[in-house]
Amino acid sequence: MCGIVGYIGKQAVIPVLVEGLKKLEYRGYDSAGVAVLEEKGIEVYKSAGRLANLVEKLGDGYSDATIGIGHTRWATHGRPSDLNAHPHSDCSGDFAIVHNGIIENYLELKEWLIKQGHQIVSETDTEVLPHLVEHFYKGDTAEAIRQVLIKVHGSFAMVALSRNHKEQMVVARKDSPLVIGLGEGEYFVASDIPAILNYTRQIYILADGEIAVIDRDGVRVTDFQGNPIQKEVFEVKWDTVAAEKDGYEHFMLKEIFEQPRALKDTLTGRLNHNGVILPEVALTAEEVANINKIFIVACGTAWHAGLVGKTLIERWARIPVEVDIASEFRYRSPLIDEHTLVVVISQSGETADTLAALREARRLSARVIAVTNVVSSSVAREANDVIYTCAGPEIAVASTKAYTTQLEGMVLLALYLAEARDSLSLEKISEIISALKEIPAQAQEILNQSSAIKDLARSFIVVDDVFFIGRSLDWSVSMEGSLKLKEISYIHAEAYAAGELKHGTLALITDNTPVIALATQMEVYEKTVSNIKEVKARDAKVIGLTFKGNDDLAKSVDQVIYIPQTIAELSPILSVIPLQLLAYYASVARGCDVDKPRNLAKSVTVE
Ligand code: M6R
Repeated sequence: MCGIVGYIGKQAVIPVLVEGLKKLEYRGYDSAGVAVLEEKGIEVYKSAGRLANLVEKLGDGYSDATIGIGHTRWATHGRPSDLNAHPHSDCSGDFAIVHNGIIENYLELKEWLIKQGHQIVSETDTEVLPHLVEHFYKGDTAEAIRQVLIKVHGSFAMVALSRNHKEQMVVARKDSPLVIGLGEGEYFVASDIPAILNYTRQIYILADGEIAVIDRDGVRVTDFQGNPIQKEVFEVKWDTVAAEKDGYEHFMLKEIFEQPRALKDTLTGRLNHNGVILPEVALTAEEVANINKIFIVACGTAWHAGLVGKTLIERWARIPVEVDIASEFRYRSPLIDEHTLVVVISQSGETADTLAALREARRLSARVIAVTNVVSSSVAREANDVIYTCAGPEIAVASTKAYTTQLEGMVLLALYLAEARDSLSLEKISEIISALKEIPAQAQEILNQSSAIKDLARSFIVVDDVFFIGRSLDWSVSMEGSLKLKEISYIHAEAYAAGELKHGTLALITDNTPVIALATQMEVYEKTVSNIKEVKARDAKVIGLTFKGNDDLAKSVDQVIYIPQTIAELSPILSVIPLQLLAYYASVARGCDVDKPRNLAKSVTVE
């Protein structure tokens, strides 16, 4: 996804911008650029491809400019190219702008600008912005931007430089994240906090509908009408080292291995002998009793966590749950009222579809609980209640520790609802709590055997298709295992409810087709084994996954992965770990770009 950086201060700006852009590389991008304010005017450097191309273009003889903006672009309107890369300029070269988001009415605006005599040179939606600023500019850039924002529809985080104001950056935000870093006589702008963490931990989080004028003396924030806004300084507590690879070859592997810590942190302070402690969810027992339906809404991996959440809530709290893909949710007229609880799950808290679903749910008067990993993210700020997962920054595009901590979030929420509705016995609650406390150490136990999975992954170098099967919660985890494998190793992978195979997909199973069969749900174990036999009879190569101590599965499969014993409802947190490792090692063995898979971005902040 696109990334923004900006700087005004005493340092030479280009190295600051380049370093900030490097910190944003994990978001995914296809081109990059910077614009700096020189005495003679604005100099723009842009390049398609990796940041290294831009750095090469910038050369060694950096300008000594001390104010500038930078951008990494992930193409939406117009293909990746030097021309389409940001920053974009107006006809006179007076303004340069970087932008995240989408200007939905850009075609109409472009047509209008062309009629006014403007020359639009790129295919992007963004380029209309500097031309509109040029059109409305009467000596005050912020005022011109206010005029522009009345005209544009869509989402944006934008930063503008003006040749006429060599000591000033103007930033604005609507529906796309933007923060301002406060240093000693210097200021930073970024779409993502890691881009500026090396310089400052004091930030302003710009809210929707705010514009800030930043010069060497400070930051002045107003709303889009020009009314002053007093901002509170937010202290970032993240450890910078937490965002580094820490000796691992890839962020993904580091993040897989961080799971015991992340799982422990997410439970810390939230369990006692009798149940869960979730003061952050401020529902009264009466409000919980009045909930007649729950929707869980999310995208991708977070949606897979929602599928597990559905089973847990229905099983323990006895409330009907529907799980929706966020991009579908608001277009299907969901039946929501004030007795509906909507749970949105989002690692980043900035996924556009999830945020839009949240807004729709609130508009329809539902109570919204967010499960998210990013403090003060948009989703966190707009939900009624927030359950934070404590995974720490997740940099790799492929989600791992975010998923397992989201599963814990689902367990906590399901227990909270069950306790409030008195739908579980004390013995059952205490059994769940005891099992939950074991999970971090059990995750470590699985990781200690990662070399066996690495060996197994070698056989995936040449395969084209892999099938994941399972029943009940094993099916939900199969979906996540399949997504992990396909997104980073580019192997075609599909997940099926094991009993569904014979209704069509079995036709695809031939000699040595790898099938990964999850068999941890003992209630349906015999049935899963029957399905395994169906694929075995078609000469599939079956890798089974079950609990340690179950020696039966080995009789029906070619190889078995064992995980520590836990209760059925918690097994997804453990069973996914070998699947993450398998995907990771398969991707490495196939020479893929593990942390930045092609065509994908970490955070999808456009619809
Ligand atoms: O930040 P979010 O949790 O809202 O992101 C949702 C999906 O884009 C995300 O889970 C994606 O599917 C994963 N990166 C895949 O590994």
